[in-house]
Amino acid sequence: MTNKKWVLALETSCDETSCGIVSTDFEVKANVIFKQETIHAQYGGVIPEVASRAHLEKVSWVYFEALKEAQLELGDLELLSYTRGPGLIGALLVGASFCTGLAHSSHKPLLGINHLEGHISAGFIQNPQLRPPFLALIVSGGHTELIQVSDYFQYQLLGRTRDDAAGEAFDKCGKILGLGYPSGPKISEEGKMGNRDFVELPLGLQQKSSLEFSFSGLKTAFSKIIQDHTPEWVQENRSHLAASLEEAIVKALVRKCESALHQTKLPHLVVCGGVSANQYLRECLGKLCIRKGIGFTVPHPNFCTDNGAMIAAAAALRLREGQIEGEFRVTPNLKLAF
Ligand code: KG4
Ligand code: ZN
Repeated sequence: MTNKKWVLALETSCDETSCGIVSTDFEVKANVIFKQETIHAQYGGVIPEVASRAHLEKVSWVYFEALKEAQLELGDLELLSYTRGPGLIGALLVGASFCTGLAHSSHKPLLGINHLEGHISAGFIQNPQLRPPFLALIVSGGHTELIQVSDYFQYQLLGRTRDDAAGEAFDKCGKILGLGYPSGPKISEEGKMGNRDFVELPLGLQQKSSLEFSFSGLKTAFSKIIQDHTPEWVQENRSHLAASLEEAIVKALVRKCESALHQTKLPHLVVCGGVSANQYLRECLGKLCIRKGIGFTVPHPNFCTDNGAMIAAAAALRLREGQIEGEFRVTPNLKLAF
């Protein structure tokens, strides 16, 4: 029997129902994920009410599976946590209510976690030696943000997208190409053999001093190329179009990271969120960090897209640092940094 402190978390902010169990030194004991992708694929995107119902159906299943996987019982846990926001209100309420019920019945502390802090905390799972200060690039379906992490729980927003998030750009352009939801991984797969220079797409807000992103121009330009050609041409050149799209999104992200690293002189980059599962982005950012002589952390792809373990890791860090004040609260538009 070890004397580790275990933290459980429920993540239900969007379309993954997940439960993770992680220790205060970031050992992952369980990370059970039910992906609702196939449910939403028929609509081409997430339908909030459908997501809430699917969470309701699966939340107790992921919880019991996680305990089984970890070979732990409720009584062995030190802290119960859930995603407080940002996210879909109905979806958030499912995880938060379930977790609150567990906390009340077991007289254990309860803690709501910011989903974006969860994404960043996946970096500690990958690299338990990671310490602030560092630069975090959060790239997901809903967010594209460059954040300076000056110390534990001290976040300063350096720049965010003015319109679409990077994942949204992948998903919307993928839809135009006829690829199903979510399109990020599909574009990557389709583009593997394609020519990255086949078409040139705008990168958005490329002045070096600006750390803001914009992906709406890229989406419009991509849509125009598709409209201006026959379906046969699009079909024939699908792999080249996918490769060019991936090139543009990755280039836009890498350039802004380079500017942020130049401006802040931070010694380490952490990239996280669903889009950080993208192999080409991982490679390009890895090379940038080698060139700059700084540290680089990117979570294993299983911890890039939404998962309970990353929320548990954030809660475990707060437990370790004595930062827990729990109460039941969901905040759909919760911010991490200003
Ligand atoms: O973090 P996440 O699971 O959910 C949000 O918090 O939004 O991110 C989901 C996003 C989707 O837009 C999906 O297309 C994108 O991450 N994504 C990828 C890849 N895997 C997931 N984008 C590009 N390449 C991938 N391999
Ligand atoms: Zn997310």
